[in-house]
This record gives sequence, C-alpha cells and structure tokens, in this order.
Amino acid sequence: MRIAVAGATGNIGRLTVAALEKAGHDVVGISRSLGVDLSTGVGLDDALVGVEAVVDATNAPGRDEAATVAHFRTTTSILLAAEERAGVGHHVLLSIVGIDRVAGNPHYAGKREQERLVEAGPVPWTIVPATQFHDFAAMVTDWTEVDGVATIAPLLVQPIAPADVAGVLAEVVVGSPQGRHPDLAGPETQDLVDMARRTHAARGRSVTLVPTWSGLFGAEMAGPVLLPGEGARIAPTTFDEWLATA
Ligand SMILES: NC(=O)c1ccc[n+]([C@@H]2O[C@H](COP(=O)([O-])OP(=O)(O)OC[C@H]3O[C@@H](n4cnc5c(N)ncnc54)[C@H](OP(=O)(O)O)[C@@H]3O)[C@@H](O)[C@H]2O)c1
Repeated sequence: MRIAVAGATGNIGRLTVAALEKAGHDVVGISRSLGVDLSTGVGLDDALVGVEAVVDATNAPGRDEAATVAHFRTTTSILLAAEERAGVGHHVLLSIVGIDRVAGNPHYAGKREQERLVEAGPVPWTIVPATQFHDFAAMVTDWTEVDGVATIAPLLVQPIAPADVAGVLAEVVVGSPQGRHPDLAGPETQDLVDMARRTHAARGRSVTLVPTWSGLFGAEMAGPVLLPGEGARIAPTTFDEWLATA
C-alpha cells in the first residue's frame, strides 16, 4: 500500500515509517522538515497523490491551551480536507488515553479537538489512544530542569514502548477503519518520579527531582485517570527492557 505518515520525523512517526517500510509498503513522509507544512497545507496535495491511508503522529508546540487547540484544529482540518480531495480511505490518529478525564491540561484540550474533528470528518477513521511513552518521564523533566533540579508530578501511568506504539499504528493503518481502537498500554504500572529517576541513572545523569502537583500536571491527574480502560490492548515491552536498549 501507499501510506503517508504525518509527523514522519518525530519520535513515533519515524518508527512507524520504519515498521511500514519493513512490511514492504510505499511510505510518504510528511513534516515541515520534509517540505510539507500542515499549518498551511504547503506541499500536502503533492504528498498525498496515490496515498490510500494516513497515520497522523504529529505534535503541537508549547503549553498554551488556546494555541495548542488552534494548532491541532488547523493542522487536522487541513490534513483531512486534503485527504478527502486525494480519495484517502483511512485516517489513523494517535491520541492519548484519559484525555476526557482531565480538563485542565492544555495538550489534552488540543487532542480532544483533534479527535472531535476526525470523528466528524470526511475520511473513515481509527483513533488509537495510547498511554504515556517510556521516554515520557525524561521528556517531562527536560521541560522543567533548571541547574540540575526538575519538578515532576508523581503520576500513576502504564507506559508503553515507542516501538510498540509504532507497530500497532503500522498494523492498524493497513486494515479497515475501526472507529475507536481499544486503549493501548504497556504491561506494568509505574510512578513517573521513579521512571525519571531510573532513566537518569541509566543515562548517567544527575538530576534532583522535586515531586509536586503544582507544576505542569495538577492533582486532577492523580489516581487512575491515565490508566487504560477495560479491554485494553497490552503491548509487551517493559520499561526496564526499553531502558536497557534506549
Ligand atoms: N509523549 C507521550 O507520552 C504520548 C502518549 C500518547 C500519545 N502521544 C501523542 O503522540 C503524538 C506524537 O508524539 P511524538 O512525541 O512522536 O511527537 P514529536 O516527536 O514531537 O514529533 C512531531 C512530528 O510532527 C511534525 N510536525 C509538527 N508540526 C508540523 C506541521 N505543522 N506540519 C507537518 N508536520 C509537523 C514534526 O516534524 P517537523 O518539526 O519537521 O515539522 C515531527 O515529525 C502527539 O500527538 C502526542 O499527543 C504522546
């Protein structure tokens, strides 16, 4: 099949491209650095010529809610309209487990808008809600680290390996549109502070972690809100297995 991956140079996108190419598909990469901008549509119609299905694994910059919602609204609308013009038959969106249970997270507000547009849109779709990735703890502390000190909320998560997410996206996109795919998660629950500590230790980095609910993530994200629901699809790679190879 000829398949486009939006966000082809990103964490999940590049692994999805690799998985699809390994399976013998013809893959078109979409990202600004590849000459296609979903904020303007520049390069998009050319990129989608002959494309049968699309994975959207793009991301939004910043942590301002209005800007994040506007970014996902613009990019998703432009992408879906171009897919309709090109006759694309399946749009697969990578989303996040639990976004409807957390009102105050700006990124989640953007993802809800993205899901709404896909569900109401012109292209048959599958939404794949995934839990936090195994590299999430390191990413979060990178955002807040100043002079070797980082704040981090003690979130209860059930993280998943990026390559496992990509493998599922590569499998789903070649099949029929499913609507909402079951939640996708890794095999074990973890505490985000502990994940950050173990990641830094494995990488030989010395970072003092300050657990808090007053930083990027508030107390509404405490408890089981980020955990996968009933009937979740559980991917195999544990956090420790990923840490040993990352
Ligand atoms: N991190 C987590 O734990 C987690 C968990 C579940 C779901 N997710 C979701 O997974 C998705 C992918 O995350 P990620 O970490 O893989 O993203 P990422 O590494 O930040 O990559 C984002 C990709 O989007 C492209 N992009 C950004 N703006 C674009 C634009 N205007 N036009 C075209 N391409 C654009 C980027 O390339 P250029 O910069 O070259 O344009 C890049 O290829 C996100 O939507 C996120 O919500 C994340």
